[in-house]
Amino acid sequence: MNSFSDQKDVPAPCQLVTGGAGFIGSAYVLEARRAGIRVINLDKLTYAGNPANLSSLAGDPDHILVRGDIGNEELVAFLLQTHAPDAVVNFAAESHVDRSIVDPDAFVRTNVLGTASLLRVVKDWWRSLPAHRAEKFRFLHVSTDEVYGALQPGDPAFTEATPYSPNSPYSASKAASDHMARAFHETYGLPVLLTNCSNNYGPRQFPEKLIPLVILNALEGKPLPVYGKGANIRDWLHVEDHCAAIARVLESGAVGRCYNIGGHAERTNLEVVRAVCAILDELVPLGQGGHADLITFVTDRPGHDFRYAIDCSRIEKELGWKPVHAFESGLKETVAWYLANRPWVDHVRSGAYRDWLAVNYGQRAAATGGTP
Ligand code: NAD
Ligand code: DAU
Repeated sequence: MNSFSDQKDVPAPCQLVTGGAGFIGSAYVLEARRAGIRVINLDKLTYAGNPANLSSLAGDPDHILVRGDIGNEELVAFLLQTHAPDAVVNFAAESHVDRSIVDPDAFVRTNVLGTASLLRVVKDWWRSLPAHRAEKFRFLHVSTDEVYGALQPGDPAFTEATPYSPNSPYSASKAASDHMARAFHETYGLPVLLTNCSNNYGPRQFPEKLIPLVILNALEGKPLPVYGKGANIRDWLHVEDHCAAIARVLESGAVGRCYNIGGHAERTNLEVVRAVCAILDELVPLGQGGHADLITFVTDRPGHDFRYAIDCSRIEKELGWKPVHAFESGLKETVAWYLANRPWVDHVRSGAYRDWLAVNYGQRAAATGGTP
């Protein structure tokens, strides 16, 4: 029971998905439409929101993309009253740690205040529903493993009982939103579900994040910036596995419960970058030395969490979910996707994207790191 297809028996399901034009949200919307779920997609279309992620849904009357902010109370109330969704799935967020270091306010506005406003408006509408509808309604808040803080090598992986200890403005803002979601369940009985997932990879990820950044820089022969010594560890999960987990939690998760989601794929950043280089060497050979010669160690991220690791035995045991993509084959497919989708790549590398590269990397001196 790993896929959206399990939801096909539900009559005329409808979901309000927020942030559904971003990386994970768009993957979720595409799967939801394949499963016959009507989707109202509320997205502010920030630099990270891209309608081209949903181009395959052009002309689909059961996908309605609405440009707007989760913090816009009137708009959210109107969408709830008009479409009466069976669930709200909240992906909308500012999502990049480095940007949260440069401009924390934007993270407080959307992740903290926006989520709190969304919860309040949904709660008021939910309370007006007849009992049989209210009982079936779900609010799923999509969160991150970063709220648990940082691990050292050998530490046990994060469980759902690990105390929150966020270190970056991004993870602190996500932690605040998680607490609000839990509080709305405890205080008002709103049927909230919470998921905390590890690092996602896959098609359509905005190239500010490590894997697409490295792919695109390598294709242009630019330096591949590795923070510090590249020894930090992340647990990687294919975006489709994340979306399938969310569908399972929505379908059968216990109200008020949180579920960790992870890929059983811990890798150091240097291992990930080297793996991308090896795939590119195979697909677009560069000659002597290969793409790994482009690896450049740069000044570390301030407050850089050393390691994340997820214990996802709860969702595996209770809901029968487990990841189906192996990291190595999933990464190869991802690299191939970026090679095959040059118009998408050219579109997202706008002037605003180039400005971000100048802000984030312009000031980072080359550092004496490890061995490329
Ligand atoms: P993303 O940055 O690619 O997309 C975020 C989307 O939210 C964009 O489409 C953006 O336009 C929209 N948005 C931003 N502010 C908004 C607002 N105020 N109102 C409406 N829409 C708004 O992010 P992503 O990587 O797809 O992450 C989606 C969610 O999953 C986030 O909540 C993130 O914290 C969480 N998450 C991400 C990862 C990961 O590895 N990327 C892992 C775990 C959890
Ligand atoms: O763990 C889940 C989180 O994963 C999500 O909540 C976030 O939304 C998502 O952005 C991601 O956060 P990270 O900070 O782990 O992802 P990022 O791709 O930015 O960085 C991955 C690792 O690579 C991290 O240790 C920092 C490092 N890095 C990143 C960039 C952009 C580099 O070494 N060089 C880089 O240029």
